[in-house]
Amino acid sequence: MTNGTTVASFTGAQPAQENILDGALAGLGATPKTLPSKYFYDERGSKLFELICELPEYYVTRVETALLGEFAGQAAALMGDGASIIEFGTGSSEKIGILLGALERPAAFVAVDISPTALRAAAETMARDFPNLAVHGVCADFTQPVALPEMPGAGRRVVFFPGSSLGNFNPEQSVDFLANAARLIGPGGGMLIGIDVKKDEAILNAAYDDAQGVTAAFNLNLLRHLNRECGANFDLDAFSHRAFYNAGAGRVEMHLVSLHAQTVTLGGQSIAFAEGETIHTENSYKYSIPEFQDLARRAGCEPVRAWTDAEGLFSLHYLSVASDPAP
Ligand code: TRP
Repeated sequence: MTNGTTVASFTGAQPAQENILDGALAGLGATPKTLPSKYFYDERGSKLFELICELPEYYVTRVETALLGEFAGQAAALMGDGASIIEFGTGSSEKIGILLGALERPAAFVAVDISPTALRAAAETMARDFPNLAVHGVCADFTQPVALPEMPGAGRRVVFFPGSSLGNFNPEQSVDFLANAARLIGPGGGMLIGIDVKKDEAILNAAYDDAQGVTAAFNLNLLRHLNRECGANFDLDAFSHRAFYNAGAGRVEMHLVSLHAQTVTLGGQSIAFAEGETIHTENSYKYSIPEFQDLARRAGCEPVRAWTDAEGLFSLHYLSVASDPAP
């Protein structure tokens, strides 16, 4: 039993600096150059991402929140009494709040996030809003295996993964992620996953390249983060944001374009950029509903139900973990 306003446990720590440097050097040493998108989310990056979620062009958060408002009751009925919810990435507390509010006597809430500040804030909000809930914060990189805290209680374990964050993995990584999550929660577990849907290119391009330039600032903040954490010397005025839908690959790609030939140093190494060369910083895959259901089956998950809005912009999927999950 918790005392109502405190978080039951915090575990984990921020990934070590040398790991950030190693990850950055590995990506920038590759051809074409890439950087791990998890480095977007320092404190400033997390704040910029919250602003993205409110942009008129970025329909994802709005439509997903409305879908939850409409269908959380149906999803909660599938999850049953006394469920424990594990959220990967602390998105807005609004979305998880809608789900927890719809559940019958939820037992525990585990927030897993790479940013210690965002994690603490989200866990404290939920502990305050749901005084009977055991709230746990796990600071971890969820692209790696995650250890769950002790969660007494016989209810179902349910993974909540909103925001089409799964779409930031490629399809093979997504299958692996779902299979790992399935192993973590075990047979009979459930998953409620938000997935962005394929649609008109103009809508997608605008959603990732907004008129106010917030997404550009978010993308460029990755370089600022490396300057601070690894002593890199990226000139933020010498790179620009580029985002576009790659229809063949079924994904929006985000890049940082080098505006002229230049050399950047980090970790004692020099990295040369040609004019127009890009750093590929993020992918956001889009799936039709049957495409995503096929992907879920490849991970040993059974698609139970899918919900979408009237315009078919976004989808919520409820999956159950098969009794014999994929190896
Ligand atoms: N999961 C979000 C998405 O793919 C992440 C995201 C939204 C994002 N906007 C972004 C990532 C801009 C990088 C840059 O829609």
